[in-house]
Amino acid sequence: MVSAVAARFLLSLIMVNLLPTTPLVEERPVQAADGAVRVAQGKTRKRVFPVPHIQKPNPISEAYGYCNTPSHTEQAWEGHSPADYKLLSVHVMIRHGDRYPLYSIPKTKRPAINCTLSTSRNPSHPLLRSFISHMGKGNLGHWESPLASLPRFPNHNTCETGELTQTGVVQHLRNGKLLQQAYRPHSLVPSDWSPQQVWVETTGKSRTLQSGLAFFYGFLPEFNWKKLTVHHQGSTLFCGSACDCPARNRYLEQEQKRQYRLRVADAELERTYADMARTLGIPTCNLRAANPIDSLLCHLCHGLSFPCVSRKDGSTGECLTMAQFAAIRRQQLDDEKDRRRVGLYRKYAVLAMYPYLNRTATKMERVAKAATGSRPPRAGGEEIFTLSSAHDVTVAPLLSALGLEEARFPPFAARLVFELWKSTSALQGQKEPKLGKGGRPKTRDGGCFIRVLYNGEDVTHDTTFCRSLDRHSSQPLCPLKKFLSFVRRDIFGVVNATSYHQACYSRTG
Ligand SMILES: *[C@@H]1O[C@H](CO)[C@@H](O)[C@H](O)[C@H]1NC(C)=O
Ligand SMILES: *[C@@H]1O[C@H](CO)[C@@H](O)[C@H](O)[C@H]1NC(C)=O
Ligand SMILES: *[C@@H]1O[C@H](CO)[C@@H](O)[C@H](O)[C@H]1NC(C)=O
Repeated sequence: MVSAVAARFLLSLIMVNLLPTTPLVEERPVQAADGAVRVAQGKTRKRVFPVPHIQKPNPISEAYGYCNTPSHTEQAWEGHSPADYKLLSVHVMIRHGDRYPLYSIPKTKRPAINCTLSTSRNPSHPLLRSFISHMGKGNLGHWESPLASLPRFPNHNTCETGELTQTGVVQHLRNGKLLQQAYRPHSLVPSDWSPQQVWVETTGKSRTLQSGLAFFYGFLPEFNWKKLTVHHQGSTLFCGSACDCPARNRYLEQEQKRQYRLRVADAELERTYADMARTLGIPTCNLRAANPIDSLLCHLCHGLSFPCVSRKDGSTGECLTMAQFAAIRRQQLDDEKDRRRVGLYRKYAVLAMYPYLNRTATKMERVAKAATGSRPPRAGGEEIFTLSSAHDVTVAPLLSALGLEEARFPPFAARLVFELWKSTSALQGQKEPKLGKGGRPKTRDGGCFIRVLYNGEDVTHDTTFCRSLDRHSSQPLCPLKKFLSFVRRDIFGVVNATSYHQACYSRTG
């Protein structure tokens, strides 16, 4: 097993070696998730290159990163820790995989993509065939309403609006398999796992349900359906019964106004929309309402040429261009930068994702307490694996709320992973625990630590709550209690409040 420190160091060597010499280098392997390139040596985690102008991501190579086309070069630092640590639980939030567009561009043919799964179509996966047959037995599982009525894998010869594609299924079979391999040495999920040890939840869209099932199948192939309950989250924010928050909605409205103002002030973008509308022979406002970037991204991700005007006589007219695509993406990247600068989105994000973070923190604390003996174990076993299958509008605010503001916009099949670790040397040291007042062991979290990973990269030390830690000290992991006090109080600092209720209902702040 590679230690986290060694892994970090190796990764940074790779990154240094791949330092771009031209502005058009693919950003993916080069930049850390926060956009900065840095070295591992040295006590202070100084950002050596504050992303100079020439490293500005190229909008087209950036878009390929968004496609997240299955490749063999994926990094997966999940499951890496120094020796003497035991993995206690893992919480995963994913974005659904590649999907068919949600919008169509007027006067053009929709992209020709077949959503029926087939092992003879690329990309495929060794588990695809058995996945399809296993999904056929899904009626043995437990489904919260309305999930039982959704198809468990994509199955239309012409994809429907927003339908998961085979690429999307394969992306998540791969993700699940990656984590299965990462956690196998730690025996995270026992072969005789109990229903209480696993929690799977999804929004009510077929693409998230199917993505979650593909991930779970890659993670636990041939799992026993009878033990699985698939839970439904009615809100894309996964906020359960705590969704009501007027201040959150106000921040979102202000953020949308900011976004709108930036867009209309962008002369190149306006010109591009006007050009495209002229090509298609429709009013510019109709084109804008059709959100053309969504469909163009799908063409790009599937290697299809951009759509052309289909004339009434069946012939083909002028086509939309890569330059137009690049102009829209460039503005989207500018928007992300402006969003970070203004900070309204961060405030929205904190309130949006608090209920999910609170739930995750509570689960982790429960498991940590049981592992350190300060709470009796739960009947049926602790919750050791959680999978939440979500959308970009879930993962993006989660990143922002954690302070991972520089992380790239969630690509298809993005994954954010929380790992809970326990130091086993602390366990040995605790045979005669030092007692604090009241006779309880002093360390509230009993030597428990958290790691956060985004798309396989360890971003723990980029989060708000672990940023101040020295990752090269003798204790390279981030104490769980930092995460707990962040979620329970410090997180509300950006909205000048100390609790969710206060932040949501006070008019000021
Ligand atoms: C879609 O793919 C399925 C499975 O390979 C195939 O049977 C079907 O004929 C295809 N449909 C179209 C319209 O290409
Ligand atoms: C946060 O979690 C606690 C349990 O630790 C729960 O009692 C509380 O209701 C949760 N708050 C919200 C707003 O979800
Ligand atoms: C923050 O909240 C405190 C108490 O609720 C208030 O006195 C103060 O004016 C607020 N600050 C800002 C910048 O809103």
